[in-house]
Amino acid sequence: MKTLTFRRPDDWHVHFRDGAVLRQVVPATARDFGRAIVMPNLVPPVTTAAMAAAYRERIVAAVPSGARFTPLMTCYLTDGTDADDLVSGHARGIFTAAKLYPAHATTNSQHGVSSIDKIHPVLGAMEKAGVPLLTHGELVRKDVDIFDRERLFIDRVLEPTLKRFPGLKVVMEHITTKDGVEVVRAHRGRLGATITPQHLLYNRNALFEGGLRPHMYCLPVLKREEHRLVLRAAATSGEASFFLGTDTAPHLRHLKEAACGCAGVFSALTAVQAYLRVFAEENALDRFESFASLNGPAFYGLPPNEETVTYVEKPSVAPEAVEVPDEGPIVCLLGGETVEWSRA
Ligand code: NCD
Ligand code: ZN
Ligand code: ZN
Repeated sequence: MKTLTFRRPDDWHVHFRDGAVLRQVVPATARDFGRAIVMPNLVPPVTTAAMAAAYRERIVAAVPSGARFTPLMTCYLTDGTDADDLVSGHARGIFTAAKLYPAHATTNSQHGVSSIDKIHPVLGAMEKAGVPLLTHGELVRKDVDIFDRERLFIDRVLEPTLKRFPGLKVVMEHITTKDGVEVVRAHRGRLGATITPQHLLYNRNALFEGGLRPHMYCLPVLKREEHRLVLRAAATSGEASFFLGTDTAPHLRHLKEAACGCAGVFSALTAVQAYLRVFAEENALDRFESFASLNGPAFYGLPPNEETVTYVEKPSVAPEAVEVPDEGPIVCLLGGETVEWSRA
């Protein structure tokens, strides 16, 4: 039986939501990951240091006793973000980074930034104080095809921002295209990228396999096979710019299986197994630790986790769903399927 031991990984992109859902999903992430970047797209969004500190307490209260897990908080940028509150929140260790949601690009982004020049003063303050900018990298316009959103964001928002603020560190979250991979390589050192399990496992055919598949729907939407292959090569390359970020995005089943279904794939329970499948298929298990446990902390200027974890190549059936009391199930990525790796 093959065994694999590596430093405990971190997840550089998670959605925990709040309330009853938070209480069910935090333990899933805390079981496998040492730290996680927590996205701020709640209702209402986490826009101030005080809100982030209170949210962090609710997350910590949901961590099972005995688990060692640290949530890293982010500030939801709006047209009205208070740069002083953001910078002082960062200095006090409340904020690790700030998140740019272009308005209407994704789940709960209606309060997002309407135009990048609205936050130029805030970006200048972040550059000076060393606060990383995390981006949902899509330009959303009626006349822009949904499959071209990432490339247009790179051309019209990302590249001009990198140029205007040369000291600003940026993460392009959940990259999905070869354009994403290329721009990250072109700005090595100051531009990083997270890659989700679903964008490594599936191409856009998965959305329509035998019918409409709402559990395969996330944003950015799955792309063509040629993009998936470039993403797999990037993730498994060992290059420091690419790191693990699941984008685990829980939505109740009835809100996904609907006439207008929510975007997001819940992967917290099976993400490590999903990534391990990809690395095994690419003959790159020796580079898994870089992607999962080393590149992310190095980018954020944090030490890697001391603790190690061991996985064994022992098949098991992944759980179908997590049940939220009184609310219903949240369907898991790979739910009900056989996965090759188990935690030892
Ligand atoms: C995320 C969510 O549900 O919050 N959904 C998704 O499809 N990825 C938002 C996001 O990360 O864009
Ligand atoms: Zn996003
Ligand atoms: Zn996300």
